[in-house]
Amino acid sequence: MAISVEKGVFNLETSNTLYQMKVDGFGVLNHLWYGAKTDCVMDYLLDYPGVGFSGSPYEADNQRTYSLDTLPLEYAAEGEGGFRVPALSAENVGGSRALALRFREYRIQKGKYRIEGLPSVYTGEDEAETLEIVLQDSVSQIEVLLRYGVLPQKDIITRSVTVKNGGDRRIMLRRVHSLCLDIPYGEWEWVHFHGRHTMERQAERLPVMHGVQQSGSGRGLSSHQQNPSVLLCEKGCTEDSGFCIGAALMYSGGFQTQIERDQLDQVRLVMGIDPGTFCWALEPGESFHAPEVILSCSDRGMGELSRRFHRVIRENVCRGKFQFSGRPVLINNWEATYFDFNEEKIAKIAKQAAELGIDMMVLDDGWFGKRDSDISGLGDWVVNESKIRGGLGQLIERLNGMGMKFGLWFEPESVSEDSDLFRNHPEWVIRVPGRDPVRSRYQLVLDLSNPEVVEHLYRTVGGILRRYHIEYVKWDMNRAICDWHSSALPPDRQMEMPHRYVLGLYSLLERLTGEFPDVLFEGCCGGGGRFDAGMLHYCPQIWCSDNTDAHDRTLIQYGTSFFYPISAVGSHVSAVPNHQTGRTASLKARGTVAMAGSFGYELDLNRLIGEEKAEVAQQVKEYKGYQKLIHGGRYYRLTNPFEGNMAAWAFISPDGREALVQGIVYRAASNVLRGRLRLAGLEREARYRVGGKVYTGQALMTGGLLLPWTWGDDMGFTFFLERIDCQ
Ligand code: GLA
Repeated sequence: MAISVEKGVFNLETSNTLYQMKVDGFGVLNHLWYGAKTDCVMDYLLDYPGVGFSGSPYEADNQRTYSLDTLPLEYAAEGEGGFRVPALSAENVGGSRALALRFREYRIQKGKYRIEGLPSVYTGEDEAETLEIVLQDSVSQIEVLLRYGVLPQKDIITRSVTVKNGGDRRIMLRRVHSLCLDIPYGEWEWVHFHGRHTMERQAERLPVMHGVQQSGSGRGLSSHQQNPSVLLCEKGCTEDSGFCIGAALMYSGGFQTQIERDQLDQVRLVMGIDPGTFCWALEPGESFHAPEVILSCSDRGMGELSRRFHRVIRENVCRGKFQFSGRPVLINNWEATYFDFNEEKIAKIAKQAAELGIDMMVLDDGWFGKRDSDISGLGDWVVNESKIRGGLGQLIERLNGMGMKFGLWFEPESVSEDSDLFRNHPEWVIRVPGRDPVRSRYQLVLDLSNPEVVEHLYRTVGGILRRYHIEYVKWDMNRAICDWHSSALPPDRQMEMPHRYVLGLYSLLERLTGEFPDVLFEGCCGGGGRFDAGMLHYCPQIWCSDNTDAHDRTLIQYGTSFFYPISAVGSHVSAVPNHQTGRTASLKARGTVAMAGSFGYELDLNRLIGEEKAEVAQQVKEYKGYQKLIHGGRYYRLTNPFEGNMAAWAFISPDGREALVQGIVYRAASNVLRGRLRLAGLEREARYRVGGKVYTGQALMTGGLLLPWTWGDDMGFTFFLERIDCQ
C-alpha cells in the first residue's frame, strides 16, 4: 500500500520517499515530513516554541505555544493567526477572509484522480493510489478537498486542491494555491528559471533569505520570464548528491511560486495560479478546481530529481501516438524565408530536404489571409493563393509525392486588427471597453474565455485538419495578455477571465488533439514562452526558443532539462551567422546541440555549400540512429554551462548498454592541455568501448574522457559508448 493511515497519521510512500501528515488534537492538519523514508512517525520533530506576537486559535485556550504562525501546516489558510504566505484566501461571511480549516474526513482510492477541465498526471489503475482529505471551515462551510496522487514506482506525488462552497452565500476566492509545503529544518537554496524572449529558462540558484522570495507570471502565459517549476535544495546539494525537492505546476497561464523563510528559519513553499490576475466567485454548491502540482524529492542530487520528472512527464503527462514513437525530422521554412515565399520556394526547400533524409516540411507563418508581414492577417485561416498558388491541397500532394510529410503553423489565439475576423467580430478580442487595446507584435488576443470563440476556433482549425493531409501542427502564441476584459462575462465575473481563458484553451486543445490523434502538435509561444507541464499534456513537444544559436541554446536547454524531458524540446539547426546573435558556430556544433531534443532544420538547405549537404545528410542519419537513446534514455547533466568553458550532457539507455555523450567547448585555446570530461551514470565495474578503446566505468567517471583539441569556438563533440562485458 502506497497510502496508509494510522492514528491520524497519513503516510504516502514511494520507493524512496515518504510524505507524512497528521491531524492534531485541534483537528489541524500538520505537515510532518517530505523526504527519504524513515520508518518512523516524524511528529517528534514538531516543536511548540513560545514565540511572542504569534497568536493561538481560540480553542487552544491558554496553550500559548500552540500557534498556526509557527506550526508546519499542510494547507495554510489566511486569517487564523498565521502570518506566513497563505495557500488559500477567500472572502466569506461578512466579507472577512478568516478561515479555520479543520479535518473532517478522508478517503483512499485505487488509481489516480483526474481534474475536471484541467490537464493532470494520468496512470493505470495499478500504478497509483489517491488520498483525499477534506478540511472544513465551520463558519463559512467552505470545504477544501486536498488530493494526493501517489506513484510509488516513480517516486512522484501529485497534489491538487478543490474548494467547495458548502454555505448559502457567494464566496470570493482570491488565492487557491495548489501546493503548500512547510519545511521546518535545514539550510535551503532555491533554483528558478528566469529569462526573456530568445533566452528562456536561465537557471539561477539563490539562498533562501528571510522574508518572501517569489517567481511568477501575470502575463496570461506561463511566460518566457519565469517558469512554473522550482527546486529547493539543501545547501551543498549537487547533481549527484544531497537532498532536493522539485515542484512543477501543470498550468499554462499566470502562476506564482513563493518561498518564505520565517522568523524561526522555517521554509514554506506555495505554488499555484497567479493571485494578481485571479479571482473567482463561488456560488453555494459550486466547486473550484486548482491545477495540479507534480512533486518529487531526491537525496541523490538534482540529476536524479530531473530524471524522475522526465519520466513522469514523458510517461504520465504527454499523450498520444507520438508520446513514445520516433518524431519526424523537420525542415521549417521560418528562418529560411520568413514571410517571403511562394509554393515554388517551399517545394524547392522540401525537395532538397527529402534528398537529405528529412521527413517533414513545416510551412510556418504567412501562408494564410493577408499575411506578408506580422501586422495583418491573423485570424483569417484561409490559404493565401497569391503565395501558395493552387492552394494547400496541391502543395501537400506535391510534397507528399517527394516522400515528405506536411506540417502547418497556426496561431489560433491571436488576431490582427487588419483581418476579416476582427472586422466581423470585434467583440471577440480581449480589450477594455472605452480604452484602446494594448498591441504587442501589432496583434490582439482572442477571448478564449468565451465558448463561442473556442467553438469558432475548433471549427476553423479542425476544418483545415479535416480537409488536408496535415500531419503536424505548430501551435503558436506570440504575445502576453493584458487588458483583461470579456464581452461575454458580467462585470462581477471579469476577474475570472484569465483562468477561464486557460480553461478555454485546454478544452480546445483537448477536442482537437482528440479528434486528430495522428497529428503531431508542437507547442510554441514566441519560442518557449509557454513551456510547461500543462501544454505538454496536449503537445508532446514544444519549440524551446526562438534563439537557435548553438551557444545560447546550451544554456536554454540546460535550464529546460531540470524538469522537462528531452523529447519535449523542439530544437533546430539554423543558418550562420545566427539570426538572433550573429554568432557563427560550425555545422557540427549546431547539429550536436539540436540533437539534444526533437530535431529539425530551419534554414534554406539550397544555400548549403560544399560538403555541408553531405554533413546534413549524415546528421539526419545519426539522429535517427540515436533518437531512441536520446528520448528514452536517462539524461545526465555533466557540466553547469554557466560556470565553465563547456556544456556537456549524456544519455544512457534504460538497460545501461549504450550511452551518448555530447557537448560544446565554448572557447578555443592554444597551447593548453586537452579538456577532460567526467561522465556520470555508468556502472563502475563495467567496461565501455569508446571510439575503439576500452575503459572502465570507474575510470570514465573519475578520470573522465579526453576531449578533442579545440579548433574554433563552440566546438561540438560526440562520443558513443557501448558496454562490452555483458553482451
Ligand atoms: C514565433 C515562433 C517562430 C515563428 C514565428 C512566426 O516567433 O516562435 O518559430 O513561427 O512566430 O511568426
